[in-house]
Amino acid sequence: MIYLDNAAGSHPKPASVIRSLNLACHKFGANPGRGCYQMSKQTSFMVDETREKLSRLFHISQPKRVIFTAGATTSLNMALFGLLKPGDHLILSGMEHNALWRPAAALAQEGKITVSKIQADAQGFVRAEDFAAAIRPETALIACLHGSNVNGAVQPIAAIGALAKSRGVPFLVDAAQSAGLLDVDVERDHIDLLAVAGHKYLYGLPGSGCLYVSPNVSLRPFIYGGTGNKSEMPQQPDFYPDHLESGSLNTLGIAALNAAYDFIQDIGRETLAGHCQRLSQRLLEDLSCIKGVTLQTPMEKDPLLLPVVSFTLANKTAGEVAALLDAEYHIAVRSGYHCAPLAHQTLGTLEEGTVRLSPGWFNTMREVKRAAAAIAKIARR
Ligand code: ALA
Repeated sequence: MIYLDNAAGSHPKPASVIRSLNLACHKFGANPGRGCYQMSKQTSFMVDETREKLSRLFHISQPKRVIFTAGATTSLNMALFGLLKPGDHLILSGMEHNALWRPAAALAQEGKITVSKIQADAQGFVRAEDFAAAIRPETALIACLHGSNVNGAVQPIAAIGALAKSRGVPFLVDAAQSAGLLDVDVERDHIDLLAVAGHKYLYGLPGSGCLYVSPNVSLRPFIYGGTGNKSEMPQQPDFYPDHLESGSLNTLGIAALNAAYDFIQDIGRETLAGHCQRLSQRLLEDLSCIKGVTLQTPMEKDPLLLPVVSFTLANKTAGEVAALLDAEYHIAVRSGYHCAPLAHQTLGTLEEGTVRLSPGWFNTMREVKRAAAAIAKIARR
């Protein structure tokens, strides 16, 4: 099988990550922060070490403000429901994933907030100046995804962050697709809230991720409960991470992230990204030569893109192409909307979505060439 759906979840996982899971079952079986015995303390140490590692990756100076979550969707819901108050105004981009768009739409439907959507250009890129023009006195949050899971477009988050800071508006970045691939620097880019998925290009497990909350913003908890501290009080602790991190943690997912960080450091983030981008570039070049293919991912290498290639085929639906690739060529790709209908509205593919190929570190040039050749055969039918 040729797996080309790393944007949905990277596969396979690095051997070191798989080894860490086995070790974690033996060594970190206890509940962290809940016991005075050695195994609980060792598990707490591993959890805090992982916070520190993620902080190094994203240039976060206060690791305790890294909250472990079940993934980017949970992180984004925590950010929106925790920050926004009745009467607030939210600005987001026209490329957002449903993980951000749906909680925003729910709050708007309930009449609690108003939302402005910044239109991206036909290739899916937004401009910082359009966010500036949308700011109102009641704007409480600017939110933007870093890179698109539909066509790989990378947004100018440094410019949007600088603008948000200059206007005193908190800035939320959805780095679900970019974490582990692109340089994410919360200090440099003035990011107040950063949502991260563990199972994509961080090479961790599904059900893991984090939310970084800068000291500039204060969130109401999304989930209340036990944290192992101040248990005698009915109130949720006001210190981090306890304020936002109730319930037993996903220690296996966190142990995997711990090992995944080392994997990324050993190879180098830029080497990992460069390999994936070379493969997606090759896919773009090969697919662009196939009659009937319309690419939704821009061909230009500059600005930098995520390794995500989306296309439609003139004589087949996206679902048909993906099913044929699976059934006849054992090539795994995703078709449809990729949970991001706003992006399809922008790209003009809302009718049936796209076929999406997303290479990862473990793919080879031979595999992407075979995928392009299979698509060429399907196109000729
Ligand atoms: N959001 C994930 C994707 O892009 C699941 O496929």
